[in-house]
Order: sequence, then structure tokens, then C-alpha cells
Amino acid sequence: MDQAEVSSWVKAAEKAFAAATDLDSLKEARLAHLGDKSAIALASRGLGSLPADQKASVGKMIGEAKAAITAYLEKVSEKLELEQNERVLRDEVVDITLPVSRGHKGGLHPITIIKNEISDFFIEQGFSVAEGPELESGWLNFDALNIPADHPARTMQDTFFIEPVESGVVLRTHTSPVQIRTMLTSQPPIYVICPGRTFRADELDATHSPVFHQVEGLVVDKGMSMAHLKGTLDNFARHMFGPDVTTRLRPSFFPFTEPSAEVDIFFNNRWIEWGGCGMVNPKVLATCGIDTDVYSGFAFGMGLERTLMVRHGITDMHDIVEGDLRFTRQFGIGL
Ligand code: PHE
Repeated sequence: MDQAEVSSWVKAAEKAFAAATDLDSLKEARLAHLGDKSAIALASRGLGSLPADQKASVGKMIGEAKAAITAYLEKVSEKLELEQNERVLRDEVVDITLPVSRGHKGGLHPITIIKNEISDFFIEQGFSVAEGPELESGWLNFDALNIPADHPARTMQDTFFIEPVESGVVLRTHTSPVQIRTMLTSQPPIYVICPGRTFRADELDATHSPVFHQVEGLVVDKGMSMAHLKGTLDNFARHMFGPDVTTRLRPSFFPFTEPSAEVDIFFNNRWIEWGGCGMVNPKVLATCGIDTDVYSGFAFGMGLERTLMVRHGITDMHDIVEGDLRFTRQFGIGL
């Protein structure tokens, strides 16, 4: 082995690298000229068996040749990488002027949209959102809420009972059992809303549907009063119906609140009943193991269909339940 031979390896390597047209063929050339079986690798490995007086000079020769080949490889590799990047940019360019397909993307139902809107509003104020089952035990739907067995809401007329009737399981008639579930499983302070599907044995007509939705609000904390309830409802109403809306509480009765009230809103120049509310009846708090000497609470509940109908001037419940896209699309996709 002499300088001429080593130089010829360098030349051969440079020629092979220069001929590579892309990074793949460059890799092949690298393996052939710098890899384990290349002349230069074999020569490096053979250094050990050379006579001592040649080791240094041959070693230097091989080292320089390797450095020259490696430097050239890097140069070519950089150039090919650049070319490849340019090729990708050119070949994969997207023509944003091409026409797109105008398929319908689908969207959320207006009830889901308003439910999300209400949830977002309360979450911003630190409430959590609780859900419960639609098939509910009669105890949670009625008894725990201080609705006695002879209360009109418990007759066959309003409630869908699940067979066998002795099971006591009903389709929940309101979202209030989720209040009970929340109070039984968490400690005050409680700030929660419970949106969900509810069921009552009503015929579908312009203003009723046997399947509808409510959102319930429940706060249990120290020193809660009707003023906190009114303030919460005022903010909620303004969020839903605009800054000019006024609310009024009208005395009413619910077994689970005391005192109880209907909440009306003054909207589009008339008073409209929006939902029910009140201070949580201490009996209900006690049933859930909450110390009524320390804590008090308020609750409210309204129908989502009703809220949507009032806000958007919808006069027929059929529009909400029938799923006609010409109706639904007016509310956007709601994402
Ligand atoms: N659960 C009541 C209903 O369905 C509404 C309500 C909720 C009233 C909370 C007062 C407090 O009619």
C-alpha cells in the first residue's frame, strides 16, 4: 500500500459520492467507501500487523484519506438534503385555489348548544357540572326531596314508572334528584349545576314534550340567602336574554324549597315565567346529612326547551323535537 493507492480510494469515493442523485444512493456509496468492508476500513484494521517503523506513516496516510472522504461526504450530503427539501416543498404544494366539496358537516342540536352555553357560563363562576341517571329511584326523585307519597307529582299521570312498578324506579321527572346525589356524595361548599334530560307523561303539543331538558342549580354554603339566589338568577338571565332583562320572584310552592318562588323575566315587553327556585328546605339538607345550623342553600331549575323558545321566539315545540334541518341549521353548528 502506498500513497498512490490510498489517493485512488479517495478519488473513487469522491466520484461515487458525486454520482449520487439522492440521499439513498449517497448512503449506498458511503457504505461502499467508508463502511466496514471498504478498502480504507480494511487498511485501518491491518495497521496493527504492520512493522513498527511503518505504523506511524501509514496510519497518518489512512487517517488523512478518511478525513478527506468524510469531508467530501458531508458536503455532498448537505447539498442533497437541500435539494430534497426543495423537492418536497415543490411537489407537495397545496393548490388553495382548487374547489372544495361542499358536503354538510353536521352540527349540534340547539338544545345541546344552549346546554353548553349555560354550562360554560356557570363553570366560569366556579360551579361544577353534575350529571345523574335518567332512570332514577323514586326515593331520590321524590322522597329525599320531601315530595310525600300523596303529592300530585307522584300519581301515574305525571310520572313514567318502570316495570315492575314495585321496583320504585322512574324516569326522572326533574333534575332535582341530581341535587340529592351531589349532597350525598360531597361536602359543602357546593356550587353545582345539573343539566339533563327529564320525562313527564305529557302529550307532545306546541308547548309540551314528554321528553324535555332542565338545568338545575344548587348552592350550599355558609350564610346563603334569597339575595344570593336573586343575584345569581339576575346574572344568569342577563347572560341568556341580554343586559336589559329584568327578573322577578313570585311566591310559589315546591316541597324541596322553603321559601319557594317562580322566577319570571321581563323580556320582549312582557313577563314570562322562566323557572322555579327557592331556599333549599332544611329537611332536604338534613336528609343529605348537611348541618343546617351551619349551612343553608338555594336552588333553581328551568326548562331548556322553554329557555330556547322564549329567547328565539319559537312557538312550536315540534320544531325542537322533530330534528328538521331547516330549523336546526339556523342555530349554527355550535362548536
Ligand atoms: N324541580 C322543579 C321542577 O321540575 C324546579 C325547581 C328546581 C324548583 C329547583 C325549585 C328549585 O319543577
